[in-house]
Amino acid sequence: MNKIIVSIVLAVFLVLGINKIADSIFYVEKLEKSAYQVESVTTVASTASAEASSQTGNIMAIFASTSVAEGAKVFTKCAACHSIAEGGKNKIGPALWGVLGRQAGSLPDYKYSKAMAAHGKKWSFEEMNGFLIKPKDWIKGTKMSYAGLKSEKERAAVILYMNENTNNPLPLQ
Ligand code: HEC
Repeated sequence: MNKIIVSIVLAVFLVLGINKIADSIFYVEKLEKSAYQVESVTTVASTASAEASSQTGNIMAIFASTSVAEGAKVFTKCAACHSIAEGGKNKIGPALWGVLGRQAGSLPDYKYSKAMAAHGKKWSFEEMNGFLIKPKDWIKGTKMSYAGLKSEKERAAVILYMNENTNNPLPLQ
């Protein structure tokens, strides 16, 4: 652990040092060298995040670039048909409090389409993402007459928002 910290500190000093030399002497060669150093640091960072996203699935990787507040804005597109608050009533569509992790089509007091009732899957992040792209393609015969959210970022935001409106949020990693 100590060795790692020492080598990180040394690496930082090295980069700073090269920058300083480059700044004061203005040798093109030196500048190229320091630019290369910085680039190699960002390459390492992006490799790490690519690894993370292949482990957790795509939509979870998008969560980091959006927020619950963005999701609340996106949800205004759903609010005509869905309540989201705890204890909210069914409207044209079923109440969505606690929907993530819930079995699709499983609220006892809502009359789902046959297709939704028979879907047989739990609402995971990936399942919800697939459904929201184009509901009628994901569950043929659903009566949710909504075209879908084309923007991946909007889908991630609204999923993040739904995952806040529950007693049992799904783990974000
Ligand atoms: C025009 C009304 C309408 C809009 C707008 C709408 N929905 Fe729906 N939604 C429905 C209906 C109706 C159902 C029931 C579908 C069925 O039974 O096939 C439903 C079902 C769902 C379900 C399944 C819930 C369960 O209990 O299994 C989810 C999740 C959902 N909608 C999310 C959304 C989100 C998120 C948005 C906004 C991006 C949205 N809906 C917009 C009408 C709508």
